[in-house]
Amino acid sequence: MALEPTPGDKFSFGLWTVGWQARDPFGDATRPALDPAETVHRLADLGAYGITFHDDDLVPFGSTDADRFGHIARFRKALDATGLVVPMATTNLFTHPVFKDGALTSNDRGVRRYALRKVMRNLDLAAELGAHTYVFWGGREGSETDAAKDVGAALDRYREALDTLAAYTVERGYGMRFALEPKPNEPRGDILLPTIGHALAFASTLEHHAMVGVNPEVGHEQMAGLNFVHGVAQALWQGKLFHIDLNGQRGIRFDQDLVFGHGDVLSAFFLVDLLEHGGLGGAAVPVSVPGDAGGPVGTPAGQGGDGVGVTSGGPVYDGPRHFDYKPGRTEDTAGVWASAAANMRTYLLLRERARAFRADPEVRAALAASRVPELAVPTLHPGETAADLLADRTAWEDFDPDKTALGGYAYTQLEQLAVEHLLGAR
Ligand code: GCO
Ligand code: MN
Ligand code: MN
Repeated sequence: MALEPTPGDKFSFGLWTVGWQARDPFGDATRPALDPAETVHRLADLGAYGITFHDDDLVPFGSTDADRFGHIARFRKALDATGLVVPMATTNLFTHPVFKDGALTSNDRGVRRYALRKVMRNLDLAAELGAHTYVFWGGREGSETDAAKDVGAALDRYREALDTLAAYTVERGYGMRFALEPKPNEPRGDILLPTIGHALAFASTLEHHAMVGVNPEVGHEQMAGLNFVHGVAQALWQGKLFHIDLNGQRGIRFDQDLVFGHGDVLSAFFLVDLLEHGGLGGAAVPVSVPGDAGGPVGTPAGQGGDGVGVTSGGPVYDGPRHFDYKPGRTEDTAGVWASAAANMRTYLLLRERARAFRADPEVRAALAASRVPELAVPTLHPGETAADLLADRTAWEDFDPDKTALGGYAYTQLEQLAVEHLLGAR
């Protein structure tokens, strides 16, 4: 079992994650600041491949140009020494009080223009450091009262900003993609683009929509009570999973940013399985559907998977496995590095468990019995029209819904097999 992380696993961390000094709304920092260059070395020693940052994590807000240059040079030297890469960068558009009503969607037009300049400046740096993805998390884009914000106008301004910034990166030949990060609330009472679904719909309206996808975060969807695995699956299906923020969350409450897997571990198991292997339809041994000419397709009811052909599990994710977590406020600096290692180890353990799950013949048989692969079979025959369907007596006149309704899907057995693999019982 390969549980030592290597750069090939593509694990990355935000500078702000391990660097969090654990200041919260109720208490002061419990840890000293970490030096970004040292962080690069520590993460490389632990087996990570990448590091990400907000502009202000690397260069404190308000630094002179000379200081800025120095900070960047030191960081770059650490990257060169370790081979760590910068796959993604982002802008801090939330800490400074000027952004209290948002940045790209502030009611104050001057703030919006200033925010655009702040993003452009860091886009230049991101490109210089080789980043391929630029994240937009609009933590302050929102409101506490519906009296404050014309949401339609705010979305117009959000779109204007992203269109402007996309055109800028295209013009400069940066070859970068944008990833919108949804979150339902915190720090604003309600944040614009609160879920993966909202973000995907919004992205489709953009001028450069092909270069805009999403950066979903485990905890953010779970804060909204949503199924993260379903959201990620839809983003993958739409070719829009450009990046991912992995962490842990326990239900609908404040953003906990726990270590990956230290929340809903069963959901984390299915997430890793999805990212690594694609949809579960490809996991069972499929057979041809009788009556359909030449289809290497799904497994019809009652057939135990002894046929031919291979269904694809659909698209998988090959980007960075990025941890956006916060080491517990109770941890000292040694605990910070232990928690960073824990994220990667948990991912690797879940990957190993997911592989075992997929390889288990009983799981394959159970998937087939539950007809999971049958969902890959188009509902209409090849070339069949609505008129043909109307003429097909087996679809209606001779179809017995009451009889069909008596059959079970045996999903509980399937879930139990997943639980047993997760617990190491198989
Ligand atoms: C949060 C967010 C942030 C963003 C980061 C990158 O809830 O605080 O997840 O950590 O991911 O700002 O844009
Ligand atoms: Mn978060
Ligand atoms: Mn995040």
